[in-house]
Amino acid sequence: MGSRQRDAHVRVQRQHEGSPIRYFERSDCGGEGAGVNNGIACSSCAQEALKVSLSSCHPETAAAAEGSYVSPEDVGANRSATPACACNGYVFLVRSLALGARRNDIFPKLRIFVHSPPVSSVPSASSVVQPFFPLYLLLMSTVIIRPGRNISGSFSLPGDKSISHRYAMLAGIAEGTSQLENFSTGADCASTLSCLRSLGVEWERNGTSVVIHGRGAKLHAPSIPLDCGNSGSTMRMLSGILAGQDFSSELIGDESLSRRPMARVITPLQEMGARISSNDGGRPPLRITGGKLRAINYKMPMASAQVKSALLFAGVFADGETRIEEPVRTRDHGELALCAVGARVICDGTQARISGGQKLRGIEAVIPGDISSAAFFLCAAALFPGSQLILTGLGLNPTRSYLLDLLVSMGVRISVTQLEEKHGELVGNVQVEGAQLRGATIRSPQTEMLIDEIPVLAAIAPYTTEGIEIRDARELRIKESDRIASLATNLRAMGARLEEYDDGLKVPGRQQLHGAEIDSFGDHRIAMAFAIAALRASDETTVNGADAAVISYPGFFEKLDELVQR
Ligand code: S3P
Repeated sequence: MGSRQRDAHVRVQRQHEGSPIRYFERSDCGGEGAGVNNGIACSSCAQEALKVSLSSCHPETAAAAEGSYVSPEDVGANRSATPACACNGYVFLVRSLALGARRNDIFPKLRIFVHSPPVSSVPSASSVVQPFFPLYLLLMSTVIIRPGRNISGSFSLPGDKSISHRYAMLAGIAEGTSQLENFSTGADCASTLSCLRSLGVEWERNGTSVVIHGRGAKLHAPSIPLDCGNSGSTMRMLSGILAGQDFSSELIGDESLSRRPMARVITPLQEMGARISSNDGGRPPLRITGGKLRAINYKMPMASAQVKSALLFAGVFADGETRIEEPVRTRDHGELALCAVGARVICDGTQARISGGQKLRGIEAVIPGDISSAAFFLCAAALFPGSQLILTGLGLNPTRSYLLDLLVSMGVRISVTQLEEKHGELVGNVQVEGAQLRGATIRSPQTEMLIDEIPVLAAIAPYTTEGIEIRDARELRIKESDRIASLATNLRAMGARLEEYDDGLKVPGRQQLHGAEIDSFGDHRIAMAFAIAALRASDETTVNGADAAVISYPGFFEKLDELVQR
């Protein structure tokens, strides 16, 4: 650590004594010996810190913080000198997106707000979470991406987000201990773990290993609102479990989640006997008073795997057999996860049935790599004929892997090896060679099977020969952002022609995009999709709000930087 860094850190410590905010700006550290910027915060302070923007915090605090940063060594010092607070009973080590070594190709400009509480509220040692718990408090980060030649390398993806949520929730209401390896590093799954803690579920995390001590069917009434952060999965699926609990709870979320529709889960859970109130139009916060539930026969009006899982989870607490019928088949991780913890679920086409009163037991599982995160790298490799990419331990559940079929139909060479099944989930190694991409038309039921991959497919569509048309995708308007509008705005900023429909987009092929300043709209998949589009642009692209990627894939930009050949 250079002396300039040490001095700056000391300055931060001194000037921020008694102040709630410490502020680190990565872009000023010059890359020298940097590595990772860290701070420590507890979850409720973190929520508070997120609400505080530079403009709204005390001017003196902001001024003093400008240009300051910490290094990993500082964190060591921080941890012993000024540990953290315990508002929510535990502590997070906040790790930034900062790159190990800046290579001037892709680098984040980070501003991190960390709440530093009074020392008197230091938690007990047992409540301290292991280092690198990925709660990210990054505001206003910018990543610059230069064009590349191809994508080459071999690696495995962090654990699947959908499976991590489900295993964690079910482990919480199972009897016995669960050991989950390769747990998602995304902030969304951290929200699920945090809610479980508030519901009395004990867990320990060491990197990507999580041990969860199940409480059995009865959770503990939370003393604070359950903060789902940005995670629709947490709010919707946890609602199913809370509907069967003998207490009242409140589920809250960030600004984006607070705009998202929850009636889809409220209506059927009310039918099962839960009392649920929400803001106008079925928006969060949700206040749920659970209790004894009755089984229902429910025909879902829309395709939603989150809702399907929520109702099956509620079905565990219901009297009788709950039957769910979905309009088109969606991912079946909920059904498979229930079976993995010992429940009997009967699946027949688009119908799933579960009988109430079944006991769940803890599991040991290695979570497969997230294919929706892999999609960004698969599409990046597909774009360049010289690419050679191998992804190992990738989740290949047939309800999730349609992207591979689609890419093959567009001319990409893909081979899958070492296919195996783990707790009903298919896992394998995938090798991809890029090509001149043809085009595609994506409609229901493929749209539902590709729902999280559509942003990156639309972003690379201009570089195909025939273009890509996406229809029946109205759901994209109510994701973390209005993804159809976000895609259209950013594609146009990069010079693309396209047609926008209420339910999709038509992006003609054979278009050369130029670099531009684009916005993530606070949406992780938009940030990552345009990092990929930028690789084939004629010049440099600036992605504002790139930190959104931490929702599903912290480390995304570093990994991309490592794999892109220039
Ligand atoms: C998910 C289902 C999908 C998907 C989301 C995760 C899940 O949403 O878009 O990112 O884990 O079940 P829907 O519930 O709207 O299908």
